Amino acid sequence: WPKDVGILELEVYFPAQYVDQTDLEKYNNVEAGKYTVGLGQTQMGFCSVQEDINSLCLTVVQRLMERTQLPWDSVGRLEVGTETIIDKSKAVKTVLMELFQDSGNTDIEGIDTTNACYGGTASLFNAANWMESSYWDGRYALVVCGDIAVYPNGNARPTGGAGAVAMLIGPNAPLALEQGLRGTHMENAYDFYKPNLASEYPLVDGKLSIQCYLRALDRCYASYRRKIQNQWKQDGIDRPFTLDDIQYMIFHTPFCKMVQKSLARLMLSDFLSSSNDTQNTSYKGLEAFRNLKLEETYTNKDVDKALLKASLEMFNKKTRASLYLSTHNGNMYTSSLYGCLASLLAHHSAQDLAGSRIGAFSYGSGLAASLFSFRVSQNASPGSPLEKLVSSVSDLPKRLASRKRMSPEEFTEVMNQREQFYHKANFSPPGDTNNLFPGTWYLERVDEMHRRKYARRP
Ligand code: CAA
Repeated sequence: WPKDVGILELEVYFPAQYVDQTDLEKYNNVEAGKYTVGLGQTQMGFCSVQEDINSLCLTVVQRLMERTQLPWDSVGRLEVGTETIIDKSKAVKTVLMELFQDSGNTDIEGIDTTNACYGGTASLFNAANWMESSYWDGRYALVVCGDIAVYPNGNARPTGGAGAVAMLIGPNAPLALEQGLRGTHMENAYDFYKPNLASEYPLVDGKLSIQCYLRALDRCYASYRRKIQNQWKQDGIDRPFTLDDIQYMIFHTPFCKMVQKSLARLMLSDFLSSSNDTQNTSYKGLEAFRNLKLEETYTNKDVDKALLKASLEMFNKKTRASLYLSTHNGNMYTSSLYGCLASLLAHHSAQDLAGSRIGAFSYGSGLAASLFSFRVSQNASPGSPLEKLVSSVSDLPKRLASRKRMSPEEFTEVMNQREQFYHKANFSPPGDTNNLFPGTWYLERVDEMHRRKYARRP
């Protein structure tokens, strides 16, 4: 099988407009700090009616292919992960085939995968599995994930966002998926779901969703740890796996505070599995919780407080940088985790990252979750695949800073428009295409048969 299958290139797209979370706090009449400190969010990107899931994915794929200058026939598989469903039958993937038309390449496996925010990870696993199978024909795979995360007026609305990520998958990758190391947890839960086909909004049980996320994290970490320890045993290493063995840890990010608590929770897992006589000073302040069971702690504020304090240094080192895009753009559902990966790369040099292990936790409500890891290549020399990958995302902060700040009134007006046009036929979306970034695909027309036509801003 090919060696070191993983991510060779990565491209991120987010909308050109955002609303500031302090403005939103005032507008929604909530206490100052609720969104910015309580949720850890500073800005939220949003799309006008001119953008939909197809246009987001068209844009991110086109950007990736143009930047890398890869021939369109070098792609043998294209997977899409999304939960932004605008058609119950026709896949986003079929729309993306339009980009390949001139090349004549139609021999491209893969289709859409959906389960809340997990679809991108399922797509990544599908692409890697293909590459490690007898069906692989030597070409690259493209994994595309994207979503428009919108909520009705209320508590959940500030946890919206929008964006897409495209990843080029191939062998000898600077971010190689670690083989045999996936800890997965799946169960039946109604924490966040979209039964209302006439609306873009989900039904959410916010508190339950947080518990489901944390329970899935506990279970995935336990499986991952068991699997890596088994691998180690075969190599003659017999010691417990802890967070010290992961240099960077990224998470699906519904809101940033959730991630800080999640890393802290992994520390609690390590602490509770460590022996009573452990002298590890990083567990200072947790001694009182020695006899707790993990599942008794989901809503325990004392545990939360002690854990956040004990894990702060680790959070600053392993995870904080990965939250840059999430805090400035919000939840991107399937692409959230991969936006975190891009942010992590954008804030470290290739030398910093070389040889490290990046742990990744993917969560999709309903629910499906996996914890897996990337091994970063050792070669960080100028012109190496790792150095090229890192420098390709280094302009992320600059790109975010170039977006247009919109008022909460304008944001609300756009949300109302999205409601008005959702699933309508026979319309041309209102709006000025100059508000989009150059090179962005947008929805030009939905005809009377619901057929969608797209154009590209020069
Ligand atoms: N200053 C500082 N902090 C403040 C504050 C202030 N003035 N006011 C409130 N806070 C804090 C609260 O103490 C709380 O923090 P702790 O939990 O650490 O105590 C935090 O701000 C949030 O406040 P509330 O709990 O009162 O928030 P809420 O009830 O209004 O809603 C929410 C929060 C449940 C996350 C809601 O936004 C929601 O439903 N969001 C969508 C669902 C979601 O994101 N779930 C996450 C897991 S599911 C998942 O991951 C899938 C997915 O992508 C959706």
